[in-house]
Amino acid sequence: MTSEVGTDIRKAAGILRDGGLVAFATETVYGLGGNALDVNAVARIFEAKARPKFDPLIVHIHDTSQVSELVQTVSVPATDLMERFWPGPLTLVMPKQNVVPDLVTAGLPSVALRMPAHPMAMELIEQAGVPVAAPSANPFGCLSPTRVEHVADQLGNHIDYILDGGACPIGVESTVVGFPDGSPVLLRPGGLPLEEIEAAIGPVQQIAKGEVSDNPSETIEATPQISPGLLSRHYAPNTPLITRDEELEIDVSKLRVGLLTFKSGNDVIGFTAVEVLSEQGNLVEAATNFFVALRKLDNLSLDLILADRFPEYGLGRALNDRLHRAAKKR
Ligand code: TXA
Ligand code: MG
Repeated sequence: MTSEVGTDIRKAAGILRDGGLVAFATETVYGLGGNALDVNAVARIFEAKARPKFDPLIVHIHDTSQVSELVQTVSVPATDLMERFWPGPLTLVMPKQNVVPDLVTAGLPSVALRMPAHPMAMELIEQAGVPVAAPSANPFGCLSPTRVEHVADQLGNHIDYILDGGACPIGVESTVVGFPDGSPVLLRPGGLPLEEIEAAIGPVQQIAKGEVSDNPSETIEATPQISPGLLSRHYAPNTPLITRDEELEIDVSKLRVGLLTFKSGNDVIGFTAVEVLSEQGNLVEAATNFFVALRKLDNLSLDLILADRFPEYGLGRALNDRLHRAAKKR
């Protein structure tokens, strides 16, 4: 069975209400949605993605009136962030109400909430009349989908309907912020730059690289408040990828090597294929193109993908994070 692709929001909303799965565009990446309050629908999401049950899902809402149904208490900084950045590419982790199934949160006492800034996503959630649990619509660990054809190619047999919302304008997943001890912690850099969050609410703690274990059970037990999505290898192409700064003595002319580079002007000689993410070196444009370019290179049967790192500010932080995880050894 191949999934139907279309733009019928009413139909998609009906499928969600009936416990089915719908892939839909958001401003960040495509999500694979199901009714967050229906355990069977949520179980189907995990199955379709082959996603381990220790990795919790984000619950998508269309109106702040839904927050109190899902969350016990909203801290002052969380309220500030909602007012300032919702709808938008920001996910907030807060103490959950009992109505949220444990499967959604991987047994954690907290739930991740997000209000996406995409008119079709908003309309879909509103018409469905239920909060929508949605991870990115890719098989677990693989590249995230930012075009409808990515979803159809990768998950097309497991979804009841694919709602075509065009290309995702931001191109990297939402920024995830939690409040484990009351003060804000960056759990995943993403589409909303850290600088903007800090300008709104002051300093945000960052988790040092390596602080989160690669062993899932350890991650959950040892650091229950820390995002399991920080698991190392993730967002990865099939082709081995290394960043240019960790390059060993590789003669690119003897191998089929593809280059993923931020802007024009970097050394591109000898590569089999080159993807320039933004000629002028604009991080917003680079983010939009990131997963598309990585997919293109991954489809060329290359021996290796070499990637230039991004400046570590703005969206560059999220892009470096995705590169870092893509480069992890299997
Ligand atoms: O932009 C996005 O966030 C996309 C679109 C579809 O909304 N969704 C997405 O979902 O990227 P996913 O499942 O690929 O990533 C969810 C992230 C993971 O890092 C997960 O660990 C974290 O959110 N997360 C979810 N619930 C959590 C919780 N209760 N505590 C800590 N982290 C949580
Ligand atoms: Mg994902």
